[in-house]
Amino acid sequence: MTRRQTLGLGIASLLSTFAGYSGTENSSAKNFTELSEYEQSSSELTDLCSISEPTCSLGSYAKEQGILYGAAAKHNTLSSDSEFATIFSQECRVLVPENDLKWEVVRREPGQFNFSKADWMAEFAQSNNLQLRGHTLLWHHYFPQWVEQTLGADNAEDMLIEHVQTVVKRYAGRMHSWDVVNEAVDHESSRQDRLRTSPWLSFIGPEYIDLAFWTAHEADPEAILVYNDNGLWWDAPEGEAKKAAVLQLLETLRSQGTPVHALGIQGHLLGHEMHQMNPEKLRKFLSDVSSLGLEIMITELDVNDHNLPDDVGLRDRLVAEAYYNFLSVVLDEPAVTTVVTWGLSDRDTWYSGWGRKENARPLPLDRDLNRKLAWRAIVESFISTSHQGDNIYS
Ligand code: XIL
Repeated sequence: MTRRQTLGLGIASLLSTFAGYSGTENSSAKNFTELSEYEQSSSELTDLCSISEPTCSLGSYAKEQGILYGAAAKHNTLSSDSEFATIFSQECRVLVPENDLKWEVVRREPGQFNFSKADWMAEFAQSNNLQLRGHTLLWHHYFPQWVEQTLGADNAEDMLIEHVQTVVKRYAGRMHSWDVVNEAVDHESSRQDRLRTSPWLSFIGPEYIDLAFWTAHEADPEAILVYNDNGLWWDAPEGEAKKAAVLQLLETLRSQGTPVHALGIQGHLLGHEMHQMNPEKLRKFLSDVSSLGLEIMITELDVNDHNLPDDVGLRDRLVAEAYYNFLSVVLDEPAVTTVVTWGLSDRDTWYSGWGRKENARPLPLDRDLNRKLAWRAIVESFISTSHQGDNIYS
């Protein structure tokens, strides 16, 4: 039996116990009484392979299928937590600065650019043989106050160009890809094109998206330029409207020759809402995006466990199940080239700011950097996919 076959027996059967999860705490209590199975899964995890083996990592298992795997991290964590930094470089092949390239950090002071944190991250990536992904050039959040106070119809275009040019040029030739525009679509927008209200839209108009992509492309012709958005995985009416509007935006951009190369699907999954994912509709959406000639990246994957049961063993299994079920669907689509989790360890997740706070368990590793069932589920989804991508990252 090959390693692949051996592993293939694991997670699907472990997780199948929970296939009936309907997403409410009460029904989960009825459905999930076999908690002893968790013990078994923990020991299987340890037996799988040792972290000291170079081929035993999320990055390596992904690479075997031609998929690039990595995670987001913060400068403050990577630079101060050497234990975390070592594991990060072992598990990942791409690093995404979680916040250090956002306006809030780079443009903290009026009229200045501050690249000290982002430069450190770029250096860390280079010295650890990781690719670097840029997040994000334009977003409606995370602006320093001075920008909000300064932006107006008379200067918005100049400020956009100056920002995108300066930031992209600084890392030109070193950036695997850039999230050029983030979350520009709002399914509740009253506009026909469903573009979200933002200073860029108000002061420049919908053309700001085309302008941002062209400016980025001229500053770094090698980088893959990504339109990134959230809420695309689920099938509630909101998700449907969002998918339609994003597809429309991408069609428009492609038809006018805008240099957009990929769609980034954030993938912040809600553990208790996985019944809202419709595999057929998701596959159809991915295939529609792909037929526009676009690559697809899963850019911010994690599983919010806020509304899952308190029991840690059960919660970990449901989180793992969500990873497995989502990745099994999206990795069917050959245009999906990249999977990035929004953090690697529960030690440093944006969910520690809300929800279950320090008890949140949305990521592949726990707070002690031990591999959780989620780690195993991700590996298993990489291994069991019949992904027929271009193998560009092998
Ligand atoms: C989040 C970071 O994880 C937090 O640390 C920060 O406080 C706010 O931003 N979608 C995005 C990311 O595109 O930039 C957000 O990151 C998470 C939601």
